[in-house]
Amino acid sequence: MTLLILMPDRDVTALATALNKINPDLDIRIWPEVGPTQDIEYVIVWNHPSGELNKFPNLKVIASYGAGVDHILKDPDLPEQAIITRLVDDSLSRQMCEYIAGVILNQRLRLTEYREYQAATHWSPKAPRSGNVVCLLGLGNIGLEVARYLTNLNFTVRGWSQSPKDIDRIKTFHGPNQLDAALTDADYIVCLLPLTPQTTNILDKTFFHKTKKGAYLINVGRGGHLNEDDLMDALYQEQLSGACLDVFRTEPLPEDHPFWRHPRIYLTPHSASVTNIGLAARKLYENYLNMQKNLPLLNRINMTKGY
Ligand code: GLV
Repeated sequence: MTLLILMPDRDVTALATALNKINPDLDIRIWPEVGPTQDIEYVIVWNHPSGELNKFPNLKVIASYGAGVDHILKDPDLPEQAIITRLVDDSLSRQMCEYIAGVILNQRLRLTEYREYQAATHWSPKAPRSGNVVCLLGLGNIGLEVARYLTNLNFTVRGWSQSPKDIDRIKTFHGPNQLDAALTDADYIVCLLPLTPQTTNILDKTFFHKTKKGAYLINVGRGGHLNEDDLMDALYQEQLSGACLDVFRTEPLPEDHPFWRHPRIYLTPHSASVTNIGLAARKLYENYLNMQKNLPLLNRINMTKGY
């Protein structure tokens, strides 16, 4: 049984070393040196070339090296027999909690604004911004952790998801018909959704018309959730007071992209939650063993839902 790591444009040596540390006998191949294609039963992927996975006739599991699986599902030529899994670990959720809380507190306490004042040697104390309501779009395992974290920081949290959820101390909404209600009083809107045909371009003009005037947007889902021109308009019209973006349609963000220089866009390089190699190796190996023993796989995705 052979495990293949297929992550073009990434140095995967540390991941291979971490897997071999867990099991020195593990037969690991690193793409493009795949060896006999019929050996490969388990593949760890990130942004694989379309059609590539069909070359392995005995492939059983396609394991995402991240929480998202949109990079896998966009391949129209996936082997039908293979099961797709995503990466779920506490470190991914914890980082996301800290990132979102950090961005909201930065905005609330005007830290970036004061940094600009500092550059201009300008002394002008102000009260913190008052809004306290956060609407989370997406209540999967990361969304749920973020909801709890922000509630513990005394934010009033609303949550919106595709299907109904019942969460202690959080008012939840679901489905397209309840989106307006979820957004109506939100000061901060955080997109944590998986990218699916239903959620592509969800952050568009129609969406921004539903938000409270002056709301602040945080997108940590995927670039494909956001209509970039509509965001620029919403900022220009002050429907949104600002936006923090961690994900983009094209990554790295091209140098001439207007987001780089926009005064009310704060951006980070897809770094809100970064896969921890050691923890990921353990999770991926656990599922590799499950596959070998014919046990149910952890974090298997639902192909109908697309996440
Ligand atoms: C990162 O974006 C991930 O999917 O883990």
